[in-house]
Amino acid sequence: MRAKMIAGNWKMNSGAAAAADFVEKLETWFADSPEGRQAASAVREGRVEIVIAPPFTSIASAHAAKKSDLINIAAQNIHHRQKGAFTGEISLPMIEEAGCRYVIIGHSERRHVFKETNEDLEKKLIAALESRVLPIFCIGELLEERESGDTKRVLASQLESAWRSLTSDVVAEMVVIAYEPVWAIGTGKTASDADAEEACDYIRTLACDKFGIAASDSLRILYGGSVKPENSGSLLSQKNIDGLLIGGASLEVESFEKIIETSL
Ligand code: 13P
Repeated sequence: MRAKMIAGNWKMNSGAAAAADFVEKLETWFADSPEGRQAASAVREGRVEIVIAPPFTSIASAHAAKKSDLINIAAQNIHHRQKGAFTGEISLPMIEEAGCRYVIIGHSERRHVFKETNEDLEKKLIAALESRVLPIFCIGELLEERESGDTKRVLASQLESAWRSLTSDVVAEMVVIAYEPVWAIGTGKTASDADAEEACDYIRTLACDKFGIAASDSLRILYGGSVKPENSGSLLSQKNIDGLLIGGASLEVESFEKIIETSL
């Protein structure tokens, strides 16, 4: 059974104090409310995993506010080198020391706003795996690519260049893929359940072709793009959707909690 992952990507929102406040409230919910206690049991039993990805300067305070191991912290990006003359960059050892278990790699804003290429992202993916920080690797098509029938070709090429040197064991145990159609991010236009499932099913087929059935059965595939409490349950009920990567609706703890509830 693949544990459902509910991951909040805060992007450039929530400073250190807001991050600590969010984590304290979420911990209180886990401890004190019936729904939260049910969620905490699901996490302890390995059925659900909770991740938040604050901006770099909020990671340490989010980590310090944790009272349990129920919440995992992710960085939103990293540099592939361990240290050196790279002004403005953050390395894997730094995010690990700050308390991160995961790192988001290849988010569409990194690809399209900051022009990170498939080659850049392959380096980051390999560096994260070597450091044993678990990657949440994002892929997804632009609106014009979807409209011209190119979705599958885009997903295949983003994946192929990223995972060409990985092994089946690594893919099975360490990698999470997030399918985020770019046209659905921050637009309020969620992919339909059927479209999201079709893309995630295709990603699993690609994984199966390359790494075999056991690895593809273990691989977790998330959907992201305008997820909210109203649509999270039906997305999560799709066969090949193992979790959600949530932007706007992960910023308020109440709506993040509601989305967690739909995973139980
Ligand atoms: P929204 O949920 O705000 O559309 O953002 C999705 C996303 O980019 C998560 O990484």
